[in-house]
Amino acid sequence: MRPTTIISLGTALLPLLAQATNPFTQYAVDFPDPNLVAAGRFSSNVAGAEDSIVAWADEMASYGPWSVTFKPVVAPSGDKRDYMSWAPYQWPDCSKVGNKTELSTPDMWKECAYVFKDGQVNPDRTTINDFQSFFNLSDAVLYNSIAAVLQNSSSSSYSKNVAKFVDTWFLNADTGMNPNLNYAQMNRGPNGQTGEYTGVLDLRGFAKIASGILMLRKTKNSDWTSDMDAQFVAWCNKYIDWLQTSPSGKTAAGLDNNHGTIFVNQLAALKLLVNDVSGAVTLIQGYFNGIFKAQIDAKGDQPKEQGRTRPYHYRNFNAAGMITNARLLAYASPTTSPSGWNATSSAGTTIKSAMDFLMKTDPAATNESNVAIEIYPNVAAVASAYGDAAGAYGSFLNQSASKVVGFNYADDPTFLWDQPLAGGDVDAAKEGNHTTAAGPEQTGQTGDKGTNAAVGGRIGAFGCFFGVVLGLYFLS
Ligand SMILES: *[C@@H]1O[C@H](CO)[C@@H](O)[C@H](O)[C@H]1NC(C)=O
Ligand SMILES: *[C@@H]1O[C@H](CO)[C@@H](O)[C@H](O)[C@H]1NC(C)=O
Ligand SMILES: *[C@@H]1O[C@H](CO)[C@@H](O)[C@H](O)[C@H]1NC(C)=O
Ligand SMILES: *[C@@H]1O[C@H](CO)[C@@H](O)[C@H](O)[C@H]1NC(C)=O
Ligand SMILES: *[C@@H]1O[C@H](CO)[C@@H](O)[C@H](O)[C@H]1NC(C)=O
Ligand SMILES: *[C@@H]1O[C@H](CO)[C@@H](O)[C@H](O)[C@H]1NC(C)=O
Ligand SMILES: *[C@@H]1O[C@H](CO)[C@@H](O)[C@H](O)[C@H]1NC(C)=O
Repeated sequence: MRPTTIISLGTALLPLLAQATNPFTQYAVDFPDPNLVAAGRFSSNVAGAEDSIVAWADEMASYGPWSVTFKPVVAPSGDKRDYMSWAPYQWPDCSKVGNKTELSTPDMWKECAYVFKDGQVNPDRTTINDFQSFFNLSDAVLYNSIAAVLQNSSSSSYSKNVAKFVDTWFLNADTGMNPNLNYAQMNRGPNGQTGEYTGVLDLRGFAKIASGILMLRKTKNSDWTSDMDAQFVAWCNKYIDWLQTSPSGKTAAGLDNNHGTIFVNQLAALKLLVNDVSGAVTLIQGYFNGIFKAQIDAKGDQPKEQGRTRPYHYRNFNAAGMITNARLLAYASPTTSPSGWNATSSAGTTIKSAMDFLMKTDPAATNESNVAIEIYPNVAAVASAYGDAAGAYGSFLNQSASKVVGFNYADDPTFLWDQPLAGGDVDAAKEGNHTTAAGPEQTGQTGDKGTNAAVGGRIGAFGCFFGVVLGLYFLS
């Protein structure tokens, strides 16, 4: 009959044919190549990944906007615009101040001594949610930026989201964050009230934010105005200054474990945002010629992470940081040789060696099945960077990801920027339209002295269980 009838029929059927999307997962850190995404020419095998990206963009936008001024507690400075988070393992001991039952909660935070209980998270930490807000902001900016590119339009609700979220968190005169982390992961009590170097990890999401903003710049998105860009560059320059001169920033920069790796992710991303490309390259090369050398041993294990309370998580967390540094370098200087991927440790091993080792490591052996999901984006990254001639990575993702954590790797956003994976896998396209019954997933992170942590697990079917555990499971 008339074409219109056919079209409307087709439209009506579309939702039924749409591919299932993977449940939202908060991955630790990443830097999808802004040029690759901005080019916008995606093969049909990434349709499932595109669907997930748009769904995740919508979901994360629904929680925004975010601002440090939204928290119910003000930093010790009295300035509502100061970022603040509390050290996760500190507990009040009020015995020396009379243990007055009438001590108000804010007085307890100031007057009682705070004692360190390793691995035991004080649940009141989530009273102030700046760290979780920033994680969500980072994912919202990344996925909304990619979704904006997928719209192939110079203006869309997705790029408007990004502009609104960046304005509210960073730039707005009433709600914008002061460019410092003076109160990040602060200790409380009479000798506390100042932030710790561990809190620098709280803003690692800058790698995701930079990736998204660079895409909007590259595609000349009209919602990301030159005025906003200039204001954001000014903000980032001030914060870079804080990172490079504050005691917390200097301490984090000097560490040889995941803190040092991920500090470079954050600072290099900021340097790209302020158009200091050569500064970013120098910084990342310094990393690969510096602390990276001792981070992977001859077996592919990560000696700086293996001794932690949750070694499967820590190895994946640092691996995500190493991968992000390799991606940042490849973007900033595609011709630099060796690339981060080809950089070798003192033992002659590479990022690939680290992931080959981890793929043979059973998370259940250290009671870390709840963070099994952390390995998948790292494996996909390695498969796309080094190739997958033997099909080992594709097969691991195909089998293990679907069986262990119940998602299809071809439906994961990372599949969009980790191309070609398994040689542009045709199986992936086939697998991309299966239906998953899984609920949303999340890995959140925190950090404490000398280390950091992530927590992951399934929400959804396990939602009630994990919702409670989430607050308790942050680790040192
Ligand atoms: C985007 O739209 C333009 C026309 O406005 C078109 O020429 C181009 O092919 C489109 N790109 C993609 C990736 O769809
Ligand atoms: C106050 O004393 C009671 C009873 O000894 C004890 O259970 C409680 O933990 C103390 N509270 C604090 C905040 O130290
Ligand atoms: C962050 O996102 C998670 C979903 O992953 C949601 O449960 C949480 O409420 C959000 N928190 C904030 C502060 O946006
Ligand atoms: C590693 O170096 C080799 C030889 O220089 C080059 O062909 C290859 O593309 C590099 N691999 C990566 C992932 O950078
Ligand atoms: C894992 O947990 C079980 C019980 O919760 C415990 O018996 C076992 O020792 C733990 N294993 C490790 C490696 O921590
Ligand atoms: C993925 O799994 C399917 C079904 O189990 C299998 O047929 C296919 O060969 C697998 N693909 C890879 C790359 O392992
Ligand atoms: C899934 O995708 C494959 C390859 O794109 C296609 O051949 C198959 O018909 C699809 N299956 C369903 C149920 O949509």
